Amino acid sequence: MTASLIVAAAANEVIGRGGALPWHLPADLRRFRALTTGHVVVMGRLTHESIVDRLGHPLAGRTSIVVSRTMRGPGTELAGAAHRAGTGLAGTGGSAGTELTGTGLTGTGRSAGTGLTGTGLTGSPHSTGEDRVLVVRSLESALAAAASIGAPAGSDEFFIIGGESVYRQALPAVDKIYLTRVHAEVSGDCRMPDDWLAGFELASREDAADPGSGTRYSFLGYRRIPS
Ligand SMILES: NC(=O)c1ccc[n+]([C@@H]2O[C@H](COP(=O)([O-])OP(=O)(O)OC[C@H]3O[C@@H](n4cnc5c(N)ncnc54)[C@H](OP(=O)(O)O)[C@@H]3O)[C@@H](O)[C@H]2O)c1
Repeated sequence: MTASLIVAAAANEVIGRGGALPWHLPADLRRFRALTTGHVVVMGRLTHESIVDRLGHPLAGRTSIVVSRTMRGPGTELAGAAHRAGTGLAGTGGSAGTELTGTGLTGTGRSAGTGLTGTGLTGSPHSTGEDRVLVVRSLESALAAAASIGAPAGSDEFFIIGGESVYRQALPAVDKIYLTRVHAEVSGDCRMPDDWLAGFELASREDAADPGSGTRYSFLGYRRIPS
């Protein structure tokens, strides 16, 4: 299972301002959707909330794993046996026919029939498999759950999609980085760490410009340098 981080960052490493992206690059949003659809995405609570605020719903076609120590939705239930066993996974909201049990994951929607078993996850997912949301209490649990859910569903990659706090904590566990480098200095209140790409090598590059604003950016692919 490949753990990938996907982020858009300005030349000065700014990634956010006031809880939102400091730019509007439709081609980058389309690329994000194309790369992540069908996969598990891992994010912090604030990023999850900003997505739901913007779209009115979680990311479609993806299972969202949200890291939070505080988040509780209708029907949220900290996992029973599995949680005590260290999985720490909880579901949120009303399930539409999806069921997670102590013996493993079963579900309807996109995950129906994929034989999600042995994950040791419990709780009730927020919605059908297409835009399911699971809440976990630690990043470690999120990474374990992403692998457990993705692999039996036929995915060999999951994505860490922000925000700043989750990127910073997840970096040591990342195999690949999809970076949209915005070629401008931008003001903001969230940034990637200095030298965060140390330990990674550039594998691909595609330059582009936004036709509306003229903003230049590059899609950069990095992979971890084998140690
Ligand atoms: N440029 C990009 O590609 C990109 C992508 C995504 C987001 N962003 C930007 O990033 C900013 C948001 O980043 P952020 O750092 O403020 O928020 P965030 O990482 O999205 O969410 C932070 C929250 O996640 C939870 N959390 C984080 N680490 C945890 C852990 N180890 N265990 C349990 N819970 C944990 C906590 O929630 P609780 O308080 O509930 O415990 C924490 O308050 C926004 O400006 C957004 O626009 C940019």
